[in-house]
Amino acid sequence: MKKLLIILLLTFSFGAVANEAIELQSARIDLSNNESLQRGAKHFVTYCLGCHSAKHIRYLRIANDVGADPQKVLKDIAPEGASIYDQLHSAMNKHDAEKWFGTQPPDLSLIARSRGADWLYSYLKSYYIDTSKPLGVNNLVFKDTAMPNPLWQLQGEQHAEQRKTIYGEYTKLVIEEPGTLSEKDFDLFVNDLVNFLVYVGEPVQLERQRIGKYVILFLLLFLVIAYLLKKEFWKDIH
Ligand code: HEC
Repeated sequence: MKKLLIILLLTFSFGAVANEAIELQSARIDLSNNESLQRGAKHFVTYCLGCHSAKHIRYLRIANDVGADPQKVLKDIAPEGASIYDQLHSAMNKHDAEKWFGTQPPDLSLIARSRGADWLYSYLKSYYIDTSKPLGVNNLVFKDTAMPNPLWQLQGEQHAEQRKTIYGEYTKLVIEEPGTLSEKDFDLFVNDLVNFLVYVGEPVQLERQRIGKYVILFLLLFLVIAYLLKKEFWKDIH
């Protein structure tokens, strides 16, 4: 029992330290925003599919869920030669990945559920120049990540600065070399991408919300019926 208590205490205290290390930025998730989901899907295929798959979802399902014409999804979102029935498969082969990165880029179908939207949003924005690393960059949220910054051309390059306040020291990332997008547009870009990954993590979410309304309506109706029945059954009993 004592051992268990110690283990529990240690787990919680390590959790607290991990949380303190870096404050995550909040993503604005809105799964009813079809335009954002469509943009996010396009960004995913353009910037992530080279290395990562999301094989739990097919292009056709995306078209249906985000209210887009399947032909348009094939033309504007899917890579050339893909079929509308294909899953989001990466062309990267395992051996090359191991050789280049020392590890395999994981499938991202469920990443938003395991890491959370804010973590993903912050991760993709937190690369900075670190010449001591093989890739020349490091990441504040995922230290020593083996993933090169896939969005550096859009965001530009950041360097890390130590800042001191009365509450203690913290690291601030400052843009050194601007990218092709302004800071505001880059935030929107990453937000759309994360919005899409949250959708991919649980595509039935949208449907569930729709069905949920009917279920509540039914329960309310049933409450009235049950109440009337109760009155009827008990009316002769005093
Ligand atoms: C050039 C190949 C490459 C591209 C392009 C790429 N990644 Fe990665 N990614 C990797 C590798 C390799 C890892 C494994 C990193 C590690 O374990 O240190 C990884 C890991 C990740 C992880 C962390 C998974 C985890 O929890 O361990 C996330 C999230 C991720 N990538 C998201 C993305 C997104 C979103 C994009 C598109 C904007 C993208 N990646 C583009 C190679 C890539």
